[in-house]
Formats: sequence, structure tokens, C-alpha cells
Amino acid sequence: MALQAVRGAVAHRTRFATLFPWTKTPLLVGAPMRVFSGPEMAVAIYHAGGLGFIGPGVTASVSKVDLATASSLLADAQVARTLENHKSMAHLLPVGIGFQVWNGNLAEAIAAVSTHRPCAVWLFAPLDGQKQLDDWTTELRAASSDTQIWIQVGTLHEAVTAAHSKTPPDVLVLQGAEAGGHGRTSDGIGIISLLPEAADTLAAAGIDIPLIGAGGIVDGRGAVAALGLGAAGVALGTRFLASTEARINPAYQAEVCRATDGAQSTGRTHLYNQLRGTFGWPAQWSPRGLLNESWADYEAGAPFDVLKERHDAAVKQGGTAAWGPRGRTATYASASIGLVRSVEGAATIVEQLHREIEEIKKLL
Ligand SMILES: Cc1cc2nc3c(=O)[nH]c(=O)nc-3n(C[C@H](O)[C@H](O)[C@H](O)COP(=O)(O)O)c2cc1C
Repeated sequence: MALQAVRGAVAHRTRFATLFPWTKTPLLVGAPMRVFSGPEMAVAIYHAGGLGFIGPGVTASVSKVDLATASSLLADAQVARTLENHKSMAHLLPVGIGFQVWNGNLAEAIAAVSTHRPCAVWLFAPLDGQKQLDDWTTELRAASSDTQIWIQVGTLHEAVTAAHSKTPPDVLVLQGAEAGGHGRTSDGIGIISLLPEAADTLAAAGIDIPLIGAGGIVDGRGAVAALGLGAAGVALGTRFLASTEARINPAYQAEVCRATDGAQSTGRTHLYNQLRGTFGWPAQWSPRGLLNESWADYEAGAPFDVLKERHDAAVKQGGTAAWGPRGRTATYASASIGLVRSVEGAATIVEQLHREIEEIKKLL
């Protein structure tokens, strides 16, 4: 089974090379991160031969604006020439966009996708399981039939349910428990277990959907590991928080580069959502982030209104009071945080990853 899964993934890499002809193999993906990954990041990743996803915006209408920005950033002669050689792509925007389904606005998503035709849409976190994903998939395919539908899941059960649904996705992103941001609250596992079992289970059922590995991948080592597990490509989130194109407060970004030992320094909790006034996330997902002073006070028994007061004061002060080593607000990041040490351009990150992957493959 093991070799069969990896051979299957290699065939999927060829499919990606056709679908996304500007990309280099293996496919390196900038994951959609709400607010943080904007059009500048997605376009920089495009220029380095990767696939960048714009994250959901603060409000639903932002997606259309972000896609319009990406479109104008890409409207130069160089890009037009590249795509002319690939007629199948000529009418699609070579960046993707992510939507958060549980509180998303399908009408706004349809408007954004039908106007700008991104090459891929990434769906995550439905309110009521596969049914809502099926509805979104059907509507978005009707809006732009060549746009690939990617669904991010964190369990084998979710992967199998999506694959057997009436509208299976074109790609499944398997998110391991190491991931920064929202992931499975209590039933997530690492991609070293999740990815190969999903690959084998889908192959045994005769299902041919490419798998992308995500969660804790920040350099060539993690990427090669995921490819060896049966991923056709890899997606990175936290590594791109430390990119020059990230829409991020400098103090947050400094924390991403400073923090080490993700097992100790990060955890999954809804506390930071609640302190920021975000309620309603389905219980099966909670975000991984740095555990700062708000968490310490919570553990020491401080009541929520006291935590909230201290949090709001720190946010008002801004900078390191909000995100520093003694900060108080949400600083979502990966369990692999200790491997992210410097801010680079998103294109440099992609190019370096490709170099490391090739070198590591030779060394193994
Ligand atoms: C700050 C942050 C925000 C995120 N926002 C989203 C999001 O809006 N939608 C989504 O599908 N995934 C989101 N994710 C998860 C990513 O899609 C991806 O699974 C994750 O970043 C991979 O793990 P890594 O951070 O270890 O690379 C977010 C991740 C981070 C770190």
C-alpha cells in the first residue's frame, strides 16, 4: 500500500502541473489565513511557482476586493504571456481564495468567484458537516466551472465523507493537529498518521482525489516528510505569517519569529476567540496559538470579565503589550513555531523550500 500511495501522489503532481501550469513540482501552497494572507502574498507565491490562497476577509465583501487587487497585480505583460501558453488557464486567475463556511456568506462568495474566477477555492469548517460543503461546492462550480474546489479536513472521517459525497472535492487538504489557527479541537492527529491512512483508505475505495498535506510544515524537511506520506503537494500557513507580504502587526510577526518549543508555547483554546468577541465557532474546531498572559491568568482562575478587561487594555496599547512575550491577545501559530526564525519575502520562502526539497531528496 505504501508505495502505491506514493506512486498515486506522483501521478497527481502531473495533474497539478497541467491544472496550474505556472507551478513547479511538487506543488507548494500558501494556505488561506483569515485577513493575514492577502492578494500581495498570493501573487508573490504565484511569481515563485507556487499556489497562493487569499484568506477570508474580515467581512464577506472583502473577498471580491482582494481578488480584484490580485487581478490588477497580475495584469502585467509577463503574466499575460505565461498564461497565453496555457490556454486552459487563460480565463482563470492564477491564485486561490479561501472561505470559512460556518459563518460565510455564500452569495458574496459566488459574486467574488464568478467575477474573478480564481483557479481554486478552499473551503473549511462547515456548520453542519458535509451538507453545507455540498451546497457551497455545487453553487461555486455553477459560478465558475473550471475553478477547482479544495476542502480542508482534519480527520479520516471527514476525508472519507467528503470523498463519498454527492459533490466530492477536486482536492482534499489534510490538516494535521500541528497546524496553526483553527483545527480539530479534540480528535485531530498529526499528519504522519492522518495522511497515509487517508491515502490508503481512499485508494482502497477506488477514489482518485489528490491530497495536500498541511500542519507543522515550515521548511524542506517537513515538506519532504509529507510528500513521503503520500501528499501530492504541501500547504503552509504559519511560515507565511513571517513573510514581508503578510497583513500582520509587526509585534505579532516578531512573536512568530521569537517563540520556540511549540509543545509548551502553543495550545488549542477558544479563549482568544472569546476575548476578541468572536463566538459561534462550531465546537469541533478550535485555534492553535501562543499561550500568553491571558492564558496564564485564565489557568490561575481569573474570571472572564477580568481577562477581557486586561485583554482590551493591552489591545488598546497595541504592539508588544498585545502580542509580545507578555502579550494578551490572539497570536495564532503552528506547533512548529520554533522553526520559524526570520521574515522573508513569500517568493523567497517558496524558492528556498523548493531548493531544500531537492537537496534533501538527494541526501536521503
Ligand atoms: C493565523 C492563521 C489563520 C488561519 N486562517 C485560516 C482560514 O481562514 N481558513 C482556513 O481554511 N485555514 C486557516 N488557517 C489554517 C491553514 O489553512 C493551515 O491549515 C495551517 O496554517 C497549516 O498549518 P501551519 O500553520 O503549521 O503551516 C489559518 C492558520 C493560521 C496560522
